[in-house]
Amino acid sequence: MSRSFFRKDATAQGVAKQRLIESLAKPDKRIINDPYADRFVWGESLIKLMGHEFSVWVTRQFAPGFHEHLICRTRYIDDVVEESAANGAEQYVILGAGYDLRAHRLHLPTDIKTFEVDQAEVQQRKRSKLPSSLANSKNVTYVSMDFNQQSLSQQLLDAGFDQSKSTVFTLEGVSQYITREALSSTLQELTTLIQDADSTFVMSYVDKRLDEDPKSCFGKGYPNAVKRAESVRRLSAKFGEPWISLYSAQELQQLLLDNGFVLTDNKTIAELNSEYFTPVGRTVPEDQIFKLEHFVVAKSPEV
Ligand SMILES: C[S@@+](CC[C@H](N)C(=O)[O-])C[C@H]1O[C@@H](n2cnc3c(N)ncnc32)[C@H](O)[C@@H]1O
Repeated sequence: MSRSFFRKDATAQGVAKQRLIESLAKPDKRIINDPYADRFVWGESLIKLMGHEFSVWVTRQFAPGFHEHLICRTRYIDDVVEESAANGAEQYVILGAGYDLRAHRLHLPTDIKTFEVDQAEVQQRKRSKLPSSLANSKNVTYVSMDFNQQSLSQQLLDAGFDQSKSTVFTLEGVSQYITREALSSTLQELTTLIQDADSTFVMSYVDKRLDEDPKSCFGKGYPNAVKRAESVRRLSAKFGEPWISLYSAQELQQLLLDNGFVLTDNKTIAELNSEYFTPVGRTVPEDQIFKLEHFVVAKSPEV
């Protein structure tokens, strides 16, 4: 396998690694469980040996709250997807799916149709690592494409997307890596695609204040906030996936509106801490709050 291949899945592996670490926590302490994450992570045996607490401690040396932030993002999106499915969504489109295993690990209706969209190389590696028998496998279709180069709607229609069905779309941990134009045209294509079916769009975005006022993207007293923010960005760029698009809340809201979606929720770990971490005795202290990324829900207008 070439070096460029590894670069393509580096960030997908990075997120899967945090899901693996979280899944190693005791069932009554963990926020999410991803029993498949270990298949995609280099050094998974060592991580398993180190266990949840020590692995979180090691991650904290790189950036306090980084693990909890990513896990909070995953859990939030898990909840929205499960709620949308319970409310009648019949299709689920995972944009930039990487090693997302929601199609198999969440409690979704057995007849929901899932489309996973990502770069061909990442999907090839994912499929080669998945077990042969998996819940809901027959309902998952892989759509290989590059958002910066190809038309999403055409690829989805070719793959069997049904425009009359209510759909939930997720774009998790991707918007910072693609151009503004690519995000805008992706949204435009979704609007055309969904026609008059009731749909939900969930995404994460990195706060533009990271460039202008980095300290505001961390809890009060967070150690070396500016330096840590630079380290996280540098690491991502080093692996060939620089953060090229950051957004303000107003800008994102307008972008959604211009493309036919109405923003209904915008959260960071700061707001979700008491909902997810406090009940299991893991409240994230203020000086470890890593809130440079927001989790957003938008709806297609009432029809
Ligand atoms: C940080 S990973 C997130 C993966 C997954 N959503 C998760 O949260 O586990 C970013 C994903 O976006 C995909 N991606 C980045 N740029 C892309 C592009 N231009 N076209 C298609 N996929 C892209 C990458 O291949 C990778 O799987």
